[in-house]
Amino acid sequence: MHLSNGFITARAHTNIALIKYWGKKNDDLIIPNNNSLSLTLDEFYTDTSVKFSNELSKDSIFLDDVDISNSTKIVNFLDIIREKASISEYAYVKSYNNVPTSAGLASSASGFAALAAAASKAAGLQLTSKELSKLARRGSGSATRSIFGGFAEWIKGNTDNDSYGVEIENPVTMDINMIAVVLNDQPKKISSRVGMKRSVETSPYYNAWVKQCEVDLIKAKTAIKENDFNTLGKISESNAMRMHALTMSAEPAFMYFNNDSIQVINSVKTLRENGVECYFTMDAGPNVKIICKSKDIKKIKAALTKTFNDEQIVVSKPGCGVQFIN
Ligand code: ADP
Ligand code: DP6
Repeated sequence: MHLSNGFITARAHTNIALIKYWGKKNDDLIIPNNNSLSLTLDEFYTDTSVKFSNELSKDSIFLDDVDISNSTKIVNFLDIIREKASISEYAYVKSYNNVPTSAGLASSASGFAALAAAASKAAGLQLTSKELSKLARRGSGSATRSIFGGFAEWIKGNTDNDSYGVEIENPVTMDINMIAVVLNDQPKKISSRVGMKRSVETSPYYNAWVKQCEVDLIKAKTAIKENDFNTLGKISESNAMRMHALTMSAEPAFMYFNNDSIQVINSVKTLRENGVECYFTMDAGPNVKIICKSKDIKKIKAALTKTFNDEQIVVSKPGCGVQFIN
């Protein structure tokens, strides 16, 4: 990346929710209906550089060298920062995703966490992690958790001021890895934002989901405390399936699974029947993530490479929180 002076650059890693966020009680402020819990990953991240300048007459935004200056999501987010910092200059934003965009691999989480950090600092604000998390939330809910490394929880709250992420454990003591099986890196047809809104408004099971998440979250946090990999894996797998049940029970119904996703899920089950401790989770896209211990990575990769290429299989360890890299 070639940048002239004055740019502030931040790197944020993606996070994958083990207890999912699916549905908002306030669409404008992005306040969720349930707490969620995630693992930040070291292999997938976004680098974003920002500079405010009085030479611009509108924001100039590039993602992976493509001009996306008309992205209202990003321009609105920059407006929030301008208001907080009491400045009026427009911004140069250059962002690089080391993660497929809009494919259920959480580019929105790393993207808005990196943008929140870089743009707030470039605007002259000095924010604490909690304040950064609240700010990142205004761009995308899952970004609240990408401010932090390791295991993080998003406390749902009720208002702009009490809905933010907190670190649960970083560095992570549990031996936990996440293998992302990248089945399709193309943008999905139904974004998380649209998909979760439809689930809230039309799934008859939505209230049951919110209640169940409270139970799942307590179990997951206890498993992390007790270093109980299998309980955390099991609860993550069921919580993901419960989230996907909300897409299939919406009106009109929709699904993020494709044939390959089912095949990976079946491989996980077969591996488990053969004594390999592994569990799957899935987000708003067909890609499957497998949670496993270090000793089993080789066996799991060997099973997957019967059907998929090496490049489709990315092994991640727990990653760190947002950082400035210049
Ligand atoms: P994903 O599964 O990749 O998170 P979503 O549909 O939830 O997919 O979010 C994709 C959206 O996230 C994009 O449309 C864009 O608005 C935003 N996004 C992705 N990457 C970045 C980035 N580097 N900087 C700012 N916003 C980003
Ligand atoms: C399935 O954070 O992308 O990945 O807040 O509308 O931007 P918005 O949605 P987003 O949704 C993430 C949904 C999920 C689950 C999760 O990350 O908790």
